[in-house]
Order: sequence, then C-alpha cells, then structure tokens
Amino acid sequence: MKDTEPGKSERRALITGATGQDGSFLAELLLEKGYEVWGMVRRSSVGRYERIEHLMGNSRFHIRYGDMTDAVSLVRLAADLRPDEVYNLAAQSDVGISFEVPAYTAQTDALGTLYLLEAVRAAGLEKSCRVYQASTSELFGGSAGIPLGEDTPFHPRSPYAAAKQYAFSICRNYREAYGMFISNGILFNHESERRGENFVTRKITLAASRIAHGLQDRLHLGNLDARRDWGFAGDYVECMWRMLRHPRPDDFVIATGRQHSVREFCSLAFRYAGMEIAWRGAGPDEQGVDKKTGRVLVDVLPELFRPADVESLLGNPEKAVALLGWTPEKTSFEKLVRRMVEFDMKYVLK
Ligand code: NAP
Ligand code: GDD
Repeated sequence: MKDTEPGKSERRALITGATGQDGSFLAELLLEKGYEVWGMVRRSSVGRYERIEHLMGNSRFHIRYGDMTDAVSLVRLAADLRPDEVYNLAAQSDVGISFEVPAYTAQTDALGTLYLLEAVRAAGLEKSCRVYQASTSELFGGSAGIPLGEDTPFHPRSPYAAAKQYAFSICRNYREAYGMFISNGILFNHESERRGENFVTRKITLAASRIAHGLQDRLHLGNLDARRDWGFAGDYVECMWRMLRHPRPDDFVIATGRQHSVREFCSLAFRYAGMEIAWRGAGPDEQGVDKKTGRVLVDVLPELFRPADVESLLGNPEKAVALLGWTPEKTSFEKLVRRMVEFDMKYVLK
C-alpha cells in the first residue's frame, strides 16, 4: 500500500472535527505519513485546541475556520484547499445530549454532511477527492448478543443516530449517483485519554482517579448494564486512512468483536486506581462499594438514563480484517482501561 500517489510528493487532507478525539489522532497519523493536513475548527470564545496544540508547530499542519452548519464555509474550504482526501469527523457526537438538542444535531450531523459533499462537487473534485464519513454503530440500535455487520438493518434509537443515518445514506447515494469515492466507517465505540469527559468511559476513569486522590466523593452513573464493544481510538483512525487507500469505496464495520458492560469497565478502572469494587443491590438501588472499607464509590441516578438507550453493541469486523488488514483488539480492553486511568491519575492533579 503506497502512502502517496505516483507523481505526487504530498497528499493534502482536510479533517472536519480536527479538535475532537479522533481528529487529533488522525491528524497525527496523516502527518506521520507525510500528508499536508488542514484541520477545520470552529470559532470559540475560549481556545479549545488542547488536543491538537502539540501539532501547531508542524509546518505541514494548518487550521482553517469553518462550521458544518455553514454551507458557505465548506464550499470555500473545498475550493481553496482542493484536498485529495476529506475526513468528515465533525459532529454533535453525544448521544444523550442529542435528545436535548435534536435539531442542532440534525443540522450538524445530517445536513452538514450533505453540505460537505456538495462543496466537494462544487469545487469540481468529485472524481479526484476521496471522502471518509464517520458513521457509527449507533445506526444499528442494538445487537442482543448477535455481532452486527455491514448487512445488518439499521434501527436508530436517538436523534443522533437518526441524523447519522441520513448522513450514511446520502454518502451512499452520492457514491452511486455521481461515482464519488465515499466510504462509510461504521465504527463501534472507541476511547482514549482524549475522550470527551461526558462519555461514560472517561467519566469513569476521571472519577476513579479523583476518588483515589481524595478529590471526589463518589461517581453517579446511569445504565450499568449497557454493553459496548470498546476499542482504542488510536487504532481506529488507522482504519479511516486504510478505507481511503482501498481500491474501491465501500462501507466497513470497525469493532473488536468483544463487549463489556459499563459495570465491568467501572470495576477495572477502579482496580487500576487502587480500589476493588463489590456490587450490591439492583436497579436504581445498585451501588459499587469499596471491598476494603465498605465506602460507597458508585451509585445509580435515574436521571442519567436516556429516553431510549442502546443496551448492547457488538460488532463483526470480518470484512475489515479481510480487506483492510484490520487487527481487532490491537489494543486490548484491559490495556485501554489501564492507559486511560494511568493518564487520568496524573491529569486530575494538574
Ligand atoms: P468528538 O470528540 O465529540 O469531536 C467532534 C468534533 O466535531 C470536534 O472537533 C467538534 O468541535 C466538531 N464539531 C462539532 N460540531 C461542529 C460544527 N457544527 N461544525 C464544525 N465542527 C463541529 O467526537 P469523536 O469521538 O472524535 O468522533 C469523531 C466522529 O466519529 C464523530 O462524527 C462521531 O459522531 C463519530 N463516531 C465516534 C465514535 C466514538 O466512539 N468516538 C464512534 C462512531 C462514530 P469542538 O471541539 O469545537 O466541539
Ligand atoms: N455518557 C454516559 N454517562 N453514559 C452512561 C452513563 C453516564 O453517566 N451511565 C451509563 N451510561 C451508558 C449509556 O446509557 C450508554 O448505554 C453507554 O453507557 C455508553 O454511553 P456513551 O459513553 O455516552 O457512548 P455512546 O455509546 O452513547 O455513544 C458513543 O459511541 C457511539 C458509537 O457506538 C459516541 O462516541 C457516539 O458519537 C458514537 O457514535
């Protein structure tokens, strides 16, 4: 697999959502591979570039302002930069919050994707530019223990998933209608020490670290029974790049093929932070207590349950293994949790 096309010394990539968890790992990867990388960021009254600050000095890394809800900004970016590859990672990505801001979620995640594809077309790049769309396992709406693959029907269970379903479909439609190279990565949950603090894994590793240092009393959680197929974000961004190096545009599930419950994630994170949890009670009365002291470390708050939740997600990554050379569980669940806790044990003291 070649990193650059013949006769071209440097490929130019545009990443929307460059300040996000995945955007920052992807920017690092593409820079390592010799790309010129343009990250789209949105204007904010506070500097929000902590995940990409370390890349700012790199002469091949640049940022430009834009917003997924502002079609004009996307048209201008595509026309000015004429990228070889576009990675559309920008999104209102919080499933729970999408119930609070459903219209904004649809504007950003659904219509924003359409605007971006039109911007690529308007710049006359539909035959040359390859597009990666950040699709999601949330499209499936659950697995009931059966591994989900590219042919499993969708059943979105949140405004976020419904918006992403539109984005998935419009990408497929533009691929078929205009012959564009657009690939959907149907990625299952992937985490890291750069994960947003609202997502359950990071919420847990931060809380376990703060509790270990005496900075927090206890952790409140919602659905402890929810099960996810959790991988490491650094591994998953490599698949995004591989999808655009593949000879044909296609849709790929990226997952580890294993799942764990929120409760299991919690037990392991607290163990790495130096505490063993014993679970007692059930439903809203369930608590996680410190085996040594009997102190309550975790409890359940009914208001943290979603109006509709995806109970179980488990992916079947066979196609990506066969066609993209993907290695599931490159970073194991245990290694992932340990990595996040080790980072947060220091981070919470800053
Ligand atoms: P993230 O950390 O929440 O990052 C989202 C990025 O989108 C941020 O850079 C954010 O900018 C930007 N953004 C949000 N609204 C925008 C708008 N209106 N205009 C321009 N930029 C906007 O998400 P992530 O975990 O890196 O995920 C990346 C993508 O993969 C998302 O599309 C997500 O839905 C999808 N996905 C994620 C997972 C996962 O497990 N992580 C799994 C499947 C799919 P600010 O920094 O300014 O907020
Ligand atoms: N956030 C959160 N906070 N989730 C909780 C909590 C809590 O206190 N307690 C239990 N959960 C449960 C949620 O109800 C959900 O079932 C599960 O933990 C995972 O929640 P999140 O970490 O918020 O992630 P998500 O699975 O809803 O969505 C993430 O993964 C999707 C891919 O499947 C996001 O990254 C999406 O953008 C992504 O598409």
